[in-house]
Amino acid sequence: MFIPEYPTLSPRHFISIKHEAYNALPYPLSHQNKLFFYLARNGIYHLFKKKKTSDWDTVLVPDYHHGNEIRAIIAAGWKVRFYHIGWDLTFSLNEIEELIDDHVKGILVIHYLGWPQKGINQLKQICNRKGIWLLEDCALAFLAESSSQPVGTVGDYAIFCLYKTLPVPNGAVLASNKAQSLPENGSFDLPGKLSTLSRSFQLGMDWVRLKSGFHLNSMNRVKQNIGSLLTRLKLTRVGVGDSGFDVNAANLSMSDFAQKILMNLDYVQIRSKRRKNFQILHQFLNEIISTPFTTLGQGTCPLFYPILVKDKMEFIHKMHKKGIMAVPFWNHGHAFAQKNESEPCRFFRRHLAELPLHQDLDAKHLEYIASCVKEEAYLLIKEMPKKYYGN
Ligand SMILES: Cc1ncc(COP(=O)(O)O)c(C=O)c1O
Repeated sequence: MFIPEYPTLSPRHFISIKHEAYNALPYPLSHQNKLFFYLARNGIYHLFKKKKTSDWDTVLVPDYHHGNEIRAIIAAGWKVRFYHIGWDLTFSLNEIEELIDDHVKGILVIHYLGWPQKGINQLKQICNRKGIWLLEDCALAFLAESSSQPVGTVGDYAIFCLYKTLPVPNGAVLASNKAQSLPENGSFDLPGKLSTLSRSFQLGMDWVRLKSGFHLNSMNRVKQNIGSLLTRLKLTRVGVGDSGFDVNAANLSMSDFAQKILMNLDYVQIRSKRRKNFQILHQFLNEIISTPFTTLGQGTCPLFYPILVKDKMEFIHKMHKKGIMAVPFWNHGHAFAQKNESEPCRFFRRHLAELPLHQDLDAKHLEYIASCVKEEAYLLIKEMPKKYYGN
């Protein structure tokens, strides 16, 4: 079996859906004040460039982060100050308030893996009181909701990464709530066709591999050979899902092709399938694994199924060998954060791995994932550290 980490691109995604009759586009796609980017880091970079007022401008960011969002902020000329994340992956309002001084102009909050941050409304109140703006980083939380409102609508700005949740070759959205202004739309470039084509081809091949039920290593080789031929011919592509920030690619917007695919998706079905798949996997694994997110709140739209493992790289390697593209989530943060990371942050970087649960997976895939995890039970951490206080 082959189970990719992200949703795949299939022929049905080329058939348009009548959204008026079917269902409306969700936030932020339905939102007026928004910009499309190739990657979320591009939107973050342009937002911070636009908001910069002095060389002392500082933003509070979580110690538990990907790293690309921090690189984009620093590239835009901002200073970052880190706040800590607790055992339940939430922030402390008290700590954040203590970190605010005259240089702090903004706060970035990450909604991890599709679980909305609970204290977001109180944090916005602090921001309002102190005259600071709030950016909700929803790169991992598209289609999640908090108090029946879409995640991302409390802050002044929200950034979303679309290619993680949807079958699109690239795409991110920067939304501005509360009539705040955005960077100028006219100054962005469409990506080269080859970048979009090669990633779409890969997503299409993933669909064939998923549906055929075979691991098909030969397809991997075809993909690699085509990739190295294009590189030798100096036909450069801009990738997605990598680590780093290239300021020369920061002006790229989402491709027209990816925007067309957005019109052909059933977002209600995607959200409910992800939630259902979490519950199925949870039923299979609940007794033998531990996870920072044991419950699926009403608003959650899970990106992956997070589990704690003793040796993350060994676990990932074992899963990949079985055709399950598990993800070694965030092994290292930005170098600036590393010395001062909290205990939970260090723990999650070492031990948190992610299993696929996206909308293309059915019960047979989930059953297979669960059986493979059970085969490697000796690698699982059965209990969260004692300091864990639940979510
Ligand atoms: C929390 C978070 N924010 C921002 C980003 C940047 O996303 P993108 O890969 O679309 O630039 C990522 C992933 O890289 C992320 O995990």
